[in-house]
Amino acid sequence: MAQLWGGRFTKETDRKVYDFNASIGFDKRLFCQDIEGSIAHVDMLAKQGILTDAEGKLIIEGLQGISRDVVSGSLEIDERCEDIHSFVEAVLIERIGDAGKKMHTGRSRNDQVALDMRLYTRYRVVETAKLLEELLEVILGTMEENLSTYMPGFTHLQKAQPITLAHHYGAYFEMFRRDRQRMSDIYERMNYCPLGAGALAGTTYPLDREYVARQLKFKGPTMNSMDSVSDRDYLIEFLAALATIMMHLSRFCEEIIIWNSNEYRFVELDDAYSTGSSIMPQKKNPDIAELVRGKTGRVYGALMSLLTTMKGLPLAYNKDMQEDKEAAFDAMDTVSDCLALFTGMLRTMKFNKDRMAESAMNGFTNATDAADYLVGKGVPFRDAHGIVGRLVLYCIEKDTSIDKLSLEELQGISDKFGEDVYEAISLKTCVEKRLTTGGPGPETMRRTIYAYRKWLEEQKGRTLQKIGS
Ligand code: ARG
Repeated sequence: MAQLWGGRFTKETDRKVYDFNASIGFDKRLFCQDIEGSIAHVDMLAKQGILTDAEGKLIIEGLQGISRDVVSGSLEIDERCEDIHSFVEAVLIERIGDAGKKMHTGRSRNDQVALDMRLYTRYRVVETAKLLEELLEVILGTMEENLSTYMPGFTHLQKAQPITLAHHYGAYFEMFRRDRQRMSDIYERMNYCPLGAGALAGTTYPLDREYVARQLKFKGPTMNSMDSVSDRDYLIEFLAALATIMMHLSRFCEEIIIWNSNEYRFVELDDAYSTGSSIMPQKKNPDIAELVRGKTGRVYGALMSLLTTMKGLPLAYNKDMQEDKEAAFDAMDTVSDCLALFTGMLRTMKFNKDRMAESAMNGFTNATDAADYLVGKGVPFRDAHGIVGRLVLYCIEKDTSIDKLSLEELQGISDKFGEDVYEAISLKTCVEKRLTTGGPGPETMRRTIYAYRKWLEEQKGRTLQKIGS
């Protein structure tokens, strides 16, 4: 296949060198963006009189034809080409002749690939935002239905204080909401068009960069041509955000794996989202949760890979930057798959609510409330802490819980205990009284959920969703 740059060479490129240098195996994924960018470029060249209207029309129709044929499958992307840009140009010239040779006027592959990758990333940012919204919808739905579903809250994986399922899920709502907000932030910051930067120093043709930017739904053109061709910050930001999403998913998966264990039995995974064992017939394994947790590593890897690739590069374009693609594509695909599968798993997961409430009652999750009860009776908190500590020790010896002790037993440790203590340390009271903003009390939770619902609905009308090439 013809190379774009044979003129100053007297020898053929070594076959192995050619293959090592080629990127079509992975940048063919940028085909649609390459066509879209070229159409905008040529449209502008014709508007500026750099090409005649007839040439512009011929090239644009040629590009549309190539696009149609590749999408329909009648034209295959020829992997003998160096990259996707060479393929499109070669087919165009083959199809429309000399006019095709003018498409690349006032452009370099450096600003071309910068544009293609930015368009593609922008589209994946939008897609990720939508997937996050679907996950947030499932989380919020579960919250709305479980304001009074009690469960133990843990610190150090030790039972700490009682909470509700709505409250626990609310923590994940916060995490994925921040992830969703990061998509908007990244989108805003990256939404500038690098085309027209040329190889590095702009061009002497009277390009209308503002026009091209508008055609491609960017906020405007980038402002420094050297930075334009060598900036991959937007991709690093996106990979960092994807790594954070995976960290959140992985934590959630870890909890689901624990909740699904034989010891906990808080949840039951749907058969469609679990797998069996080839040897142990009783097994129903949480493979999807484990795989999502496991795939976190490769997404972190993509971020480290690009950060490392970029760290020593002098301005402007260097071929190292071709290495921005494979790991990034893998990370984007991985996160999309993980978000979609995790959301499905969560949607179909059933809770064993009795078991969760029973677990919340054991393990002295009401010990803090017992101490707070004594504080209400005038005992300084530090003394109350000591008294309840002794109570706990007593209960452990007797293999019972604080709420099951008789009033005599309680008063044997402190005469401040009265009949009203049982009400004060019941599971219901422990949860319902936690009304500080951000706490699990149902009244507080109702307000929180209202705010979440309002926020989630607002996202749906955002421009971020409307774009997506
Ligand atoms: N395949 C290249 C990349 O991904 C395209 C840009 C090539 N530019 C160049 N000066 N060789 O970065």
